[in-house]
Amino acid sequence: MNVYLETYGCQMNVSDSEVVRAVLANAGYSLSSVIDEADVVLLNTCAIRENAYRKIYGRLDTLRPLRKKMQTERGRFVVGLLGCMAQNMKEAMFRHPVVNLVVGPDNYRALPELISKVSKTGQKKAQREIDADLSEYETYQGIDPKRFDGVNAWVTVMRGCDNFCTFCVVPYTRGRERSRSLDDVLCEVRALAAQGFRQVTLLGQNVNSYHAKGVSFADLITAVADVPGVERVRFTSPHPKDFPESLLEAIAVHPNICNHIHLPLQSGSDRILELMNRTYTQDEFIRLAKKIRRMIPDVTLTTDIIVGFPTETEADHQDTLTTMQSVEFDSAYIFKYSERKGTIASKKFPDDVKAEVKTRRIVQLFDAQHEISLMRNQSRIGLTLPVLIEGESDKRPGFQMGKSDGNTTVIFPETSHHPGEIIPIEITDVTTATLLGHFLPKPVFITL
Ligand code: SAH
Ligand code: SF4
Ligand code: F3S
Repeated sequence: MNVYLETYGCQMNVSDSEVVRAVLANAGYSLSSVIDEADVVLLNTCAIRENAYRKIYGRLDTLRPLRKKMQTERGRFVVGLLGCMAQNMKEAMFRHPVVNLVVGPDNYRALPELISKVSKTGQKKAQREIDADLSEYETYQGIDPKRFDGVNAWVTVMRGCDNFCTFCVVPYTRGRERSRSLDDVLCEVRALAAQGFRQVTLLGQNVNSYHAKGVSFADLITAVADVPGVERVRFTSPHPKDFPESLLEAIAVHPNICNHIHLPLQSGSDRILELMNRTYTQDEFIRLAKKIRRMIPDVTLTTDIIVGFPTETEADHQDTLTTMQSVEFDSAYIFKYSERKGTIASKKFPDDVKAEVKTRRIVQLFDAQHEISLMRNQSRIGLTLPVLIEGESDKRPGFQMGKSDGNTTVIFPETSHHPGEIIPIEITDVTTATLLGHFLPKPVFITL
């Protein structure tokens, strides 16, 4: 049978889809990139905000005619929902008439059996199967993810989240924290280096709370950086509460651990941070950001912010704005609060900030960040940065694109160099999101 798989949501889902492909290929399924040839359509879904749900319902609607056609022609068609929305909605997903399989993020080993159960032909009643039990142990140990070729390999080192930020659905869709062993991760990274991946990104819902048999995240990332052949190591997404000095030192000292830290702020107001259960204050956050900049001078800092959390006042919003201006993030993902069923916030605090107020506040933060990002990027004009080439630029014909150490997109006129190579690019111009430059054959690297 042919399986077509579509992935939504965060990098964790991208990485999980690689596990799903491996599980299915090992069981003899073939993977198709053309939906019309598929007997099985799988959507690996996200639940983080309401628009993630809307996207999936829209996609399911588009599958109605295909189901009808396949059911008539072949007598079977499977539409399976995987990932966080599947885990969160469970049986309720069967209310959509095209869905006949629901599998949560910890149950992918069961996929071949579940698919074969729902695709039995000749049954009068449509078959439905669900497996959405969270596990305290599943790390997909022993499954070799089926990756697409490229420059970067995602390596999941821990799964789940125990933080229970009150707005967030992830602790419910991904379950409790669990870490893979150091040996297991190193074994995978050595194989990746041998296969030619130049960059490894360590993944976890709460990646820096990794711990396994006395091995901390700082130990882990150091060991990964020491694997010969690994040119760049990144990690995402961390929580500000888990940045001991040992981790900052590891990043500062190892040239191949990228100087990019994603530091999700969420809000700059102490009152809102408390209601969110973020476990830090505005002052503690700013101090951490300053310490990071002191220890890693050319660091790129990015963040996530939520506007319009319940009870957020104009003063709370101003606190977020001043925190952004004080830290000067290189870029920020800013979201409107979206109430998620089952979360602590949904039970305790009504979603009382009006839609138009959320819109006004988000625009204000976008505008402020826009200026800061541009200024941060402009400070790089004249520098020559090592850039890892990823491929051709989608937007500009005749140009290649790659990433700086800080993970900013860099665009430059085509060179004779190939994806996977790190080359010096002199930065000559910038936009808010991109650095533009040209290849400099004889570089003088200047670090700030
Ligand atoms: N583990 C990651 C978060 C993953 S979710 C971390 O702690 O950084 C990515 C981002 O989505 C969060 O940082 C938050 O800014 C946003 N988010 C999560 N739940 C949300 C909600 N209910 N409404 C709006 N944004 C939300
Ligand atoms: Fe969600 Fe908070 Fe866990 Fe991040 S740390 S996944 S925001 S509960
Ligand atoms: Fe979405 Fe689940 Fe990732 S909710 S953001 S796919 S962990």
